[in-house]
Amino acid sequence: MVNHIIFVLSLLAFACAVAFASDPSPVQDFCIADPTSSARVNGFACLDPKLAQADHFFLSGLDKAGNTSNPLGSSVTPVTVAQIPGLNTLGIALARLDYAPWGLIPLHFHSRSLYVGFVTSNPNNQFISKVLQKGDVFVFPVRLIHFQQNVGQGTAISISALSSQNPGIITVANAIFGSKPSIADDILSKAFQVDKSVIDYLQVKF
Ligand SMILES: *[C@@H]1O[C@H](CO)[C@@H](O)[C@H](O)[C@H]1NC(C)=O
Repeated sequence: MVNHIIFVLSLLAFACAVAFASDPSPVQDFCIADPTSSARVNGFACLDPKLAQADHFFLSGLDKAGNTSNPLGSSVTPVTVAQIPGLNTLGIALARLDYAPWGLIPLHFHSRSLYVGFVTSNPNNQFISKVLQKGDVFVFPVRLIHFQQNVGQGTAISISALSSQNPGIITVANAIFGSKPSIADDILSKAFQVDKSVIDYLQVKF
């Protein structure tokens, strides 16, 4: 039973871990993403700069709470190149994160008590964690898996700054156990050093 609980907890942690990559520096003032272009470039092709308008650099609604009525008790409102075409090539994005009590997600800074942590790369795999209070800022180094959990009484909000226009979130458990098509269970069984039946169980969940 205890093992089962630990197992579920570690699954939740997996489910919320993400990874990011950073972008190259721009060589022009801006490059508004042109959704109609079929050019294959690193990012999106640029709209003619003469067509630039304020709305290409604008988004409203970040004051609105996300819907946390879901199994994780959390919500991510992204502000990436998908929402603001003017972010294309600028190497940055934001996200608003809402947490119900005990709600869990990946990411970064502020309100109520937020338990955060990340794990360093091989060979140390050190787990670094901290409980944050209102106004606190915490850095997740680029590419390291991490999570956040609201451990306060009320709801919480955090704002994340991400060093990419399109942060490319990889949810660890979904990528490993929910790939399409599935990774063969004998590969995962060996990688995780557990019986195939455990892998099959996890693959069904994801
Ligand atoms: C929040 O999400 C739940 C589950 O999808 C849904 O039932 C509910 O209507 C949503 N609430 C609002 C205010 O959108």
